[in-house]
Amino acid sequence: MQAMNPNRGLVRILWSAVMFLASIGLAVATRRTIVLMKPGTMSSAKNPAVQLDAHFANHATLTLAHVLPAMLFMVLGPLQFVRGLRAKYPQVHRWSGRIFLTASTVVGVTGLTMAFGKTIGGVDEKAAITLFGTFFLIALAKALWHALRREFAQHREWMIRGYAIGLAVATIRPIMGTFFAAALLRGHAPEPKEFFGTAFWIGFTLQTIAAEIWINYTRPTAAAQLAMLPAK
Ligand code: HEM
Repeated sequence: MQAMNPNRGLVRILWSAVMFLASIGLAVATRRTIVLMKPGTMSSAKNPAVQLDAHFANHATLTLAHVLPAMLFMVLGPLQFVRGLRAKYPQVHRWSGRIFLTASTVVGVTGLTMAFGKTIGGVDEKAAITLFGTFFLIALAKALWHALRREFAQHREWMIRGYAIGLAVATIRPIMGTFFAAALLRGHAPEPKEFFGTAFWIGFTLQTIAAEIWINYTRPTAAAQLAMLPAK
């Protein structure tokens, strides 16, 4: 297969989207942390999130164990994909990668634990989380396995798959916002349980499709570049 460089404009758009989503992820995790640690800080009777705040306050420790490492996921994730950083400071990439994978494992395990308890979106949400949360952990385990075997082309592909699912949590927020706004336009103030599960399915599915398209589109280039890496 012939190597070709991905379109630069497309790469720029993708990076902007990743940074935008990582900022949303960081913002929601930060907000949840503040609300759990200082109850009442951001909630008022008129706040549409007041129900959600009460829900997560019921299992504050588990939620904090989920959102704190999720912040690391959002900060370290994009850095792991910066080619210049990987080439110039491979040690930093390896150490940051270990922290990223440890944090991601905690996020995945605590996420699945929450899904087996009472969820906002009910069975619909539980099913989406069980499927994609399990795939998230498998993808990251496969990424680590290939890195240890120095199979960097496969390592890259599995990292993209796992990262895309974690980042989907941020994609889900604008989807929820759209459902909420659409219902308001029809004169109905919806409850989060009405659209949570559907938003999870749409977000995870879209992101998984996007990851597979990107992997296939960049496969020849990435494989050629990785083949040129000096053996250590
Ligand atoms: C890595 C990025 C992630 C971030 C930033 C993140 C963030 C959050 C936040 C902030 C909450 C509290 C809800 C809120 O404040 O709106 C939450 C809840 C939750 N997360 Fe995550 N999460 C991430 C990944 C995951 C993954 C991979 C899973 C699946 C294993 C997952 C499963 C859940 C579940 C089940 C809940 C509880 C929802 C409910 O009770 O209805 N999260 N997450």
